[in-house]
Amino acid sequence: MLSIVVCVSGGGTNLQAIIDGTKSGAIKNTKISGVISNNAGAYALKRAEAAKVPAFCISPASFETRGEFNRAFLDKLKELQPDLIVLAGFLVILPPEMIETYRNRIINIHPSLIPSFCGTGYYGLKVHEAALARGVKVTGATVHYVDEGTDTGEIIMQKAVEVKEGDTPQILQRRVMEEAEWVILPAAINKIACSM
Ligand code: GAR
Repeated sequence: MLSIVVCVSGGGTNLQAIIDGTKSGAIKNTKISGVISNNAGAYALKRAEAAKVPAFCISPASFETRGEFNRAFLDKLKELQPDLIVLAGFLVILPPEMIETYRNRIINIHPSLIPSFCGTGYYGLKVHEAALARGVKVTGATVHYVDEGTDTGEIIMQKAVEVKEGDTPQILQRRVMEEAEWVILPAAINKIACSM
């Protein structure tokens, strides 16, 4: 059984896709051992509670220094003992020690076809704004391993999505989620779980 911890900051639609995937059997042999959010107001925490998954908020605002926050975050991970950490819209710079400790055991979903529209400053809606500003006709999403760089780790899965005439960043974001993110993130976890 692959034990995963999902780290979230916002709405948690990707978390929902993972929860649904474990229930439907699309993700086999996998248990969500915990959900960690840096943001107490994240709707993702409510999704975790509704699914009876242990949910924790560890917010930098509750700590005097970044070092103390990093320590609390790492302690929680250690306690949960994940085989795999899934960053599903987690907008926090990871403690370097975490990358070292969990090398090749952290994956991230990014809402573009890496290496386009990725790296520092490209997250959430900003990615789709940049894609529309550049005028690309195809975009998509990528699941990749996390290393010391920003969106530089080995690519696990990608899926392309058409950009349509009249798209706004919000419309494009939704299409990329529906057609790509909610498909490839569960599929990548299943692939890892089945390879164990
Ligand atoms: C998703 O679109 C995810 O790809 C993106 O944040 C959104 C979170 O949505 N992540 C990044 O931009 C990381 N660079 P969700 O909370 O509804 O899953």
